[in-house]
Amino acid sequence: MSDIKVLVVGGAGYIGSTTSYLLTENGFDVHILDNLSTGYLELAGDSGLLYETDLLAPQAMHNIFEEHEYQAVLHFAAFIEVGQSVTDPLMYYRNNVAGTINLLDVMRTHNVKNLVFSSTAAVYGNPLETPITESHPLAPINPYGWSKRMMEQIFADCQRGWGLNSVCLRYFNAAGADPLGRCGEWHDPESHLVPLALQAAMKKRDKLTIFGNDYDTADGTCVRDYIHVTDLAKAHMLAVDYLFSGGKSAAFNLGSETGYSVKEVIETVEKVTGLEVPCEIGERREGDPAVLVASSEAIRKRLGWKREHSDLEKIVQDAYNWHKREGFCGGRI
Ligand code: UFG
Repeated sequence: MSDIKVLVVGGAGYIGSTTSYLLTENGFDVHILDNLSTGYLELAGDSGLLYETDLLAPQAMHNIFEEHEYQAVLHFAAFIEVGQSVTDPLMYYRNNVAGTINLLDVMRTHNVKNLVFSSTAAVYGNPLETPITESHPLAPINPYGWSKRMMEQIFADCQRGWGLNSVCLRYFNAAGADPLGRCGEWHDPESHLVPLALQAAMKKRDKLTIFGNDYDTADGTCVRDYIHVTDLAKAHMLAVDYLFSGGKSAAFNLGSETGYSVKEVIETVEKVTGLEVPCEIGERREGDPAVLVASSEAIRKRLGWKREHSDLEKIVQDAYNWHKREGFCGGRI
């Protein structure tokens, strides 16, 4: 067992579990903290020792930090549904912001100064230009994006105040699943395009609704930047290494730098599965920009990250393998 002990907060979720497996394989001693509100024991599997506790229960966190000397925290524990954040903003600010303040308090008390954080492209709001670089203005358009934006600001202030070092990774569209099938996307209810298209193809739902086909894009549907969850996980490990080697606090975009339209995703699902995706054209979804594509040049240059799995067919193939699993997420909608 490595003596590099890290705490993965939200490690029983989709991206947290994938990252926990990768860290464990690379010799880290991984502990997971998760309240299992949107995470699953099955996803965490045997990727690390799991503590079932909540960011809103600071005493329980203190006890865990008292027992273990963590060298870094990776923080994935946030609510992520944009629409839900609009109707219940306090839920988002309480869990995402207040919960993170509790975590930071505990980290400061126990002198843990390295943090890798799951941020989001939603901090940019409607893009003024594309591809989006890290210097694009931060102008979120919903409470979810604001909650992440606020956390990034809090980290910067904690750096000045008590020397917190942080890397914020601004994800674009995470998709795909662990190629070994140990973990994958499992949201309840599901709202993301790739799993919804797969569920429609596999007749686990009636159809997929395409949210608008009158956007200013080549085929009229929205263009997004899909990045394989394993490539995301790798970026977290590189970010930990970067902090351990004295890297300064930074925020990096994480996307594959290639845009695909909703229709292209559906065509890829049909090609990979050999199944038809029943579709209908619906209204635009509120708050959906036409095009969101990242520049990931900064993380490539400064952390040596590269996309290895993020070709759309590979993303869909790994997601399909995951969705075919019997009696696990494959059976749920
Ligand atoms: N879409 C449909 N039908 C559906 C679901 C989605 O047409 O049933 C479309 C959306 O309109 C969008 C695209 O598919 O154009 C992707 O939608 P997702 O819901 O899968 O992902 P988003 O781009 O909305 O959001 C993702 C993350 C957010 C993050 C955002 C940042 O889920 O957490 O990327 O870019 F904030």
